[in-house]
Amino acid sequence: MLSKYRHRTACGICGGSGLSLILDLGKMSLANAFLKKEDLNKLEDKFPLKVYFCRFCSSLQLLDIVNPELLFRHYNYLTSASRPLAEHFIKMGKDLADKFVASPNDLVVEIGGNDGVLLAGIKDRSRVLNIEPAENIAEISRKSGVETIPDFFNLKLAEEIVRKYGNAKVVVANNVMAHVENLREAFSGVKKLINSDGVFVFEVHWVGNLIGEGGFDQIYHEHVFYHSLTALKYLVEGLGLKIFDVKLVPIHGQSMRVYVAEGKEVKKSVATLLQREKKMKLNRKETFVKFAKRVSKNKEKLLSLLKDLKKNGKRITGYGAPAKGNTLLNYLGIGTDTLDFLTDTTIFKQGLYSPGMHVPVVGPERLLTDIPDYILLLAWNYTDLILEKERELRNKGVKFIIPVPEVKIV
Ligand code: TYD
Ligand code: ZN
Repeated sequence: MLSKYRHRTACGICGGSGLSLILDLGKMSLANAFLKKEDLNKLEDKFPLKVYFCRFCSSLQLLDIVNPELLFRHYNYLTSASRPLAEHFIKMGKDLADKFVASPNDLVVEIGGNDGVLLAGIKDRSRVLNIEPAENIAEISRKSGVETIPDFFNLKLAEEIVRKYGNAKVVVANNVMAHVENLREAFSGVKKLINSDGVFVFEVHWVGNLIGEGGFDQIYHEHVFYHSLTALKYLVEGLGLKIFDVKLVPIHGQSMRVYVAEGKEVKKSVATLLQREKKMKLNRKETFVKFAKRVSKNKEKLLSLLKDLKKNGKRITGYGAPAKGNTLLNYLGIGTDTLDFLTDTTIFKQGLYSPGMHVPVVGPERLLTDIPDYILLLAWNYTDLILEKERELRNKGVKFIIPVPEVKIV
């Protein structure tokens, strides 16, 4: 039988055992396990959500690993549902093709390429291949004209791809390298794919943002690692590869776009970010202990605000039903007593109920006719865009509550 989860004891990056518990968010349902109405009375799977710091390699990670089959085989997260995200990746695909693709015969492989939006944008310029384990999403990718293998990426699959398609000029993986438990194997697979003259470019949420301007709600079971460049360098160099460039990009708060290859000249950007991380003390346990204290203060503040609003008879709804929203709702215990509904543009999520707290998810058009007093902005990473888009609601007096990192009403 499929084992749903296991507890790991060794660090996923250095293999050491110098791990300390930093933050315990309790037992939680899976952040993307939206429920059908008929399943609301059934027992939901809940797993510990605890964050650990490794004093040897400075990485931040979960040790309670949920089986990826459970997390990623059927996925509700569609990149194209968030326009800014889709545009960002389309642009990234074009930039990578401009920089690294020389002929239409070159192969670009994307690991966890979701609905294929990045690859579809460059499929006329190179051969493209998406490795997407979510069968429902792989199908969408295929329909957009992108050849798609509906499987998890690992060393064995990398070897098969090389046999069948040859080596890749570019391997891309966006918001995947935090999700893969066996990172060493994934990097070894990539190394096999790119051989000595390809590049690996990936984006991953930056832990410096998480503990600074970001929110603790980005912590959920799918995110096994909260990466710093410092910890990634440890891993990448240990496998005989090099990080030759890095930049911070404004996605999910702030993400790192990391460029890896075997033998390219290392740019100054790498030392600059490493230095910045050192200044931020991302290699020190105390930094994360302080972060955990802020998380619990944030919880108290938001709960007390919501309680006051409800006492004063205000109607509140949630904007977006992102995975991170479910960490927030579950950790704070915010359910239908507080929120009437969540609106979300993702068709898959509409008509379902949020995991754990069971708040109904409806389409965004609901806000045209059913206007609350306050809206809790769960998709806070799109604050600017959403405030602009919802100007009419705001002109009507609707207030938005930004929940993290500091509670704010705008
Ligand atoms: P996202 O922040 O990408 O994700 P997660 O925390 O799941 O990684 O998700 C944003 C969610 O918000 C996604 O479900 C789509 C939804 N959304 C809206 O409903 N309206 C919007 O205007 C935007 C930008 C996103
Ligand atoms: Zn370690």
